Amino acid sequence: MFVGVGEEADDGGARFPSPASTSTSGAPAGATATATAPAGATAPAPATAADAVVSYLDGNSLGRPLKTVGPLLAAFVEGAWGGRLIRGWDEQWMHLPTLIADELAAACLGAAPGQTLIGDSTTVLLYKMLRACVAARPDRSEIVVDTDNFPTDRYLVEGIAAERGLTVRWVTTATDSGLTAEQLAAAVGPQTALVLVSHVAYRSGYLADLADLTRIAHEAGALIVWDLCHSVGSVPLELDAANVDVAVGCTYKYLNGGPGSPAFVYVRADLQGALRQPVQGWFGHADPFAMGPGYEPAGGMARFQSGTPPVLGMLAMREMIALIGQAGIHSVREKSVALTEFAIELADELLAPLGVVLTSPRDAAQRGSHITLDHPEFRRVVAELWQQGVIPDFRAPFGLRVGLSPLSTSFTELATGLLALRAALESPGSPGSTAV
Ligand SMILES: Cc1ncc(COP(=O)(O)O)c(C=O)c1O
Repeated sequence: MFVGVGEEADDGGARFPSPASTSTSGAPAGATATATAPAGATAPAPATAADAVVSYLDGNSLGRPLKTVGPLLAAFVEGAWGGRLIRGWDEQWMHLPTLIADELAAACLGAAPGQTLIGDSTTVLLYKMLRACVAARPDRSEIVVDTDNFPTDRYLVEGIAAERGLTVRWVTTATDSGLTAEQLAAAVGPQTALVLVSHVAYRSGYLADLADLTRIAHEAGALIVWDLCHSVGSVPLELDAANVDVAVGCTYKYLNGGPGSPAFVYVRADLQGALRQPVQGWFGHADPFAMGPGYEPAGGMARFQSGTPPVLGMLAMREMIALIGQAGIHSVREKSVALTEFAIELADELLAPLGVVLTSPRDAAQRGSHITLDHPEFRRVVAELWQQGVIPDFRAPFGLRVGLSPLSTSFTELATGLLALRAALESPGSPGSTAV
């Protein structure tokens, strides 16, 4: 039964704007759109009840802002940027990509300092690292990736294979699970240069066995790159202990870095010198301000930088990394598991009788922090729910993802959302309702 669970185990919501008081854009309190502001630059706080968020189930796509973030950014603009101006680079900003990355490594990655960097977008960092890895295995001709990996991952692999004359070995995975150890063991061999896997599958939420798959790739002599977008900040990671080669993840989901906040990359210490990334910009140079001829990569993680680091984009995530550190990633995981268990319980009770099918693992040990439900009506239903301030997301062809960001999603909010989902499924659909 779901009744009552919300009361006993609500979120530590004081740290986040409450569902009913935040806009979906996370605009700081009082921020308003003006006639002269470029479209999308600012967003108004909810003007009416209809604009309010009553149940946010998409923190696995874009995390909410912490309450501290608005004042922090304002203070940065006034003090650090406006006050220190160009001096800020020497005084602090040059160090932020590794400083914040090491904080992230300690709180979430199970990684010692000096192996993590914050930099470009996830897609660009993945491209750089995949290219570097295949170049480090010049005698091998194959990249192994699964058919239900995130689109950017699959497209990058296709592009890199075409650039380098390599073959993509596709492993067909079921859309309600993900890449298993048996499947990977059958796919790798003496020609495998590289394996690319998502730790938590973006659709099903399947949680792959990081240590086991890494071991299998290594036994075949291949390198492995992990996409951590859907696990970092919600699932404990032990990258050093698992002997992971390279991992990349985004920071706007469970790390609450804000729209377009930069990604991070981890490269195991002993591998760093052997990898040469292809976007040779001045920030990755051994001596950027010598402005000299010829590219010579820096030592350590700096060699994976390309251009000027996105300082503003790094500030918000730092607050969340500190909060996760304070709570402890294992406690975060405990709440995540409780939330996904509760979501499945609700789905079985409220939605299965209406034909909704769970397409995520039932075993919590094989599941990240979101679940996916399938029903042919979900395109319409999600559009209607958004109108009511109930915000899951839709994944074609029929999937509705329920994303549960452990530190900011409450049990009550989850129950409210799934009750609204049931009501929308039971209604015939308002005429002219459109898909998102
Ligand atoms: C699993 C996964 N990989 C890669 C990406 C691409 O990230 P970006 O758009 O930041 O490049 C995403 C984005 O949501 C994702 O979920």
